[in-house]
Amino acid sequence: MKNYSREELVSKYKEYLMPQVHTSYKEPLCLERGEGEYLFDIDGKRYLDFYTGIMVIISGHCNRKVTKAVSEQIEKIQHSTSFFINRPVVELAEKLAEITPGKLKQSFFVNSGSEAVEGAINLAQIHTNNSTVIGLQHGYHGRTLLTRSLTAISVWRCGLTNVPDLRFTPNAYCYRCPFNSTPENCDMACANYLEEVIQTQTNGSIACVIAETIQGVGGLIVPPKDYFRIISRIVKEYGGLLIIDEIQCGFGRTGGKMFAIEHYGVEPDIMTMAKGLANGFPIGVFITDKKTASCFEGPSVSTFGGNPVSAAAALANIEYLTENKIVENSRLMGEILKEKLLELKDKYDLIGDVRGRGLFWGLELVKDRKTKEPAWEETEKIMQSCKDQGLLIGQSGFSFHVLRIGPPLNITEERIEEAIEILDRSFAQI
Ligand SMILES: Cc1ncc(COP(=O)(O)O)c(C=O)c1O
Repeated sequence: MKNYSREELVSKYKEYLMPQVHTSYKEPLCLERGEGEYLFDIDGKRYLDFYTGIMVIISGHCNRKVTKAVSEQIEKIQHSTSFFINRPVVELAEKLAEITPGKLKQSFFVNSGSEAVEGAINLAQIHTNNSTVIGLQHGYHGRTLLTRSLTAISVWRCGLTNVPDLRFTPNAYCYRCPFNSTPENCDMACANYLEEVIQTQTNGSIACVIAETIQGVGGLIVPPKDYFRIISRIVKEYGGLLIIDEIQCGFGRTGGKMFAIEHYGVEPDIMTMAKGLANGFPIGVFITDKKTASCFEGPSVSTFGGNPVSAAAALANIEYLTENKIVENSRLMGEILKEKLLELKDKYDLIGDVRGRGLFWGLELVKDRKTKEPAWEETEKIMQSCKDQGLLIGQSGFSFHVLRIGPPLNITEERIEEAIEILDRSFAQI
């Protein structure tokens, strides 16, 4: 391998990768290695990672248990295709049936989140013999044609979005309530509006509603307790399936429960997972109950889906989570993080809202707390200042004005304090 310098790497990246492959920061970060909660760039600078590669590294970078499982698997067999059976994929499917909510039992493994969403929708459409899909406003589901078209954040719909039969229903964005209400007096108008969408924009029946439990790219939008109960009831009334996208918020990210939807007491008909599942190894999956799965006997195939190395990584990762009570750590550390973020909100008017659950948090930055004008430039400056001081966090929201915070789930209180100090200094500078 050539030993390019940082400048050479950036220059060659710009020359040989398409401009649409977006990089963060004025001077893109060139990574060399990762260890636990830390990342190191190619000049040896250390960063505390509170973004985890978009909520992927839930068990820390190069987690020993995962690395060991992968190294052992790599020596045995590295590729199979779904036409053949391999041990890790069967064990992983069995494990997912055990840890996912309700009757979810049978899995289809793919390579990414986008592909998992595609597969889930395909199954719902075949099951209901109906093509109409309803997504949530501010939702994000990927970058393939269907998933991009189902994404309801204009900046992430760039390119063509010409898939027919897609509709959108309001999400529960309480800070900017589409009905100008407050959670105390809204009667869950946003959730109930789904019925209006079905009655006025469809022929009265649907294939499915797809929703992230907590919208990550949309800006950490956490629906109130009743939202999914109402959505689930309406979906069933109109003959559709409820697809819950746990690609970003699954596997303990929201603390105390393995999956965020479990906080709502609602059982999805189909669930999609990816990101944190294999702690960085490429994998995606959609899972459903046996009866729903039986409506489609294919044939279908995925060349790389069910890759034995990724499956071995996922199995080791789930084992690490359970053996070390990491989901509970996510809850406990989440409480500490929440308190400290709320203290920052008290200190800085720039922070309009603090939202999240477990170790999945968003700070919505506004120029003025009354007008709630999104503070995009300030968000960029905070991101940059944090990076300069050795802390990585993310950005989200319809105007890129929400700081997205998601450390590894095995994070300690000490590291949370370190991150908060850096955030505090960054806000003080603005
Ligand atoms: C909720 C959600 N669904 C789907 C996707 C798409 O996943 P991928 O980038 O692996 O295709 C993402 C990615 O950020 C996501 O956050």
